[in-house]
Amino acid sequence: MTADPAELLELAASLAREAGALALEMRVGVEQLDPKSSPTDVVTAADKAVERLLVDGIRAARPDDGLLGEEGTSDEGTTGLRWVVDPIDGTVNYLYGIPQWAVSIGIEDAEGTVVGVVYDPSKDELWQAVRGSGSTLNGASLRCSTVTSLGQALVATGFGYDERRRAAQALLLPTLLPAVRDIRRLGSGALDLCGVAAGRTDAYYEQGLSPWDLSAGRLIATEAGARVEGLCGRPASYDLVVAAAPGVFDALHEILVAGDADADPLR
Ligand code: IPD
Ligand code: CA
Ligand code: CA
Repeated sequence: MTADPAELLELAASLAREAGALALEMRVGVEQLDPKSSPTDVVTAADKAVERLLVDGIRAARPDDGLLGEEGTSDEGTTGLRWVVDPIDGTVNYLYGIPQWAVSIGIEDAEGTVVGVVYDPSKDELWQAVRGSGSTLNGASLRCSTVTSLGQALVATGFGYDERRRAAQALLLPTLLPAVRDIRRLGSGALDLCGVAAGRTDAYYEQGLSPWDLSAGRLIATEAGARVEGLCGRPASYDLVVAAAPGVFDALHEILVAGDADADPLR
């Protein structure tokens, strides 16, 4: 079966749009089901229904590809390609009616993400990237910001659901907040990475992201010229993701290293 990136992109984008439309439809009267990892980690019927739609659509078109989804899908596949999906990234925003959540689809091979699509249905914004070919927002090419001073940088971050992780994440703020223009907690890791790609923020960092939060957005940010890494040359991972315009990456990295931002309080 062909693995032409352009065809994969077309399929991922069309599924992301369909999934986004279903999530929007299901938002009316949405309620949370039982919490997941902690009382603040919510899941709704829409998260599950949207994952179902994505999985059925992927299986119908590419039955032999692997699959990993936040709501429980896991299948190794045999083609060397794996679809990594977050049906709704930003479920707390979704639940509260805050228009900052998205469907995230990454398609990965042995070297990482080949195709990334993030669809934000509230704004009808489709973020896309193909490895080596740049990234776009609704068809327009993306470039991250050219800021060179951390003091002028708007930095997004996120906080995990576990209270011990949150306590550790809070300890970084006294050193970071005085050193930057300001901090944002927007509530969708996938869109936070897209935000860096478009220069809507200058940087983003977070500990505890899962593969489905990261897969698509990392490629979209990287292809727009951002550096997306962990600390001290390690790759971006669950331990820490730092995505930043190249002109402020090192200064932000220095503060994150000094604050042990990748030390995991849960291990
Ligand atoms: C969450 C969002 C949030 C981030 C959390 C993620 P979910 O994903 O991306 O911004 O801070 O770490 O778990 O649970 O809404 O899919
Ligand atoms: Ca997520
Ligand atoms: Ca989710």
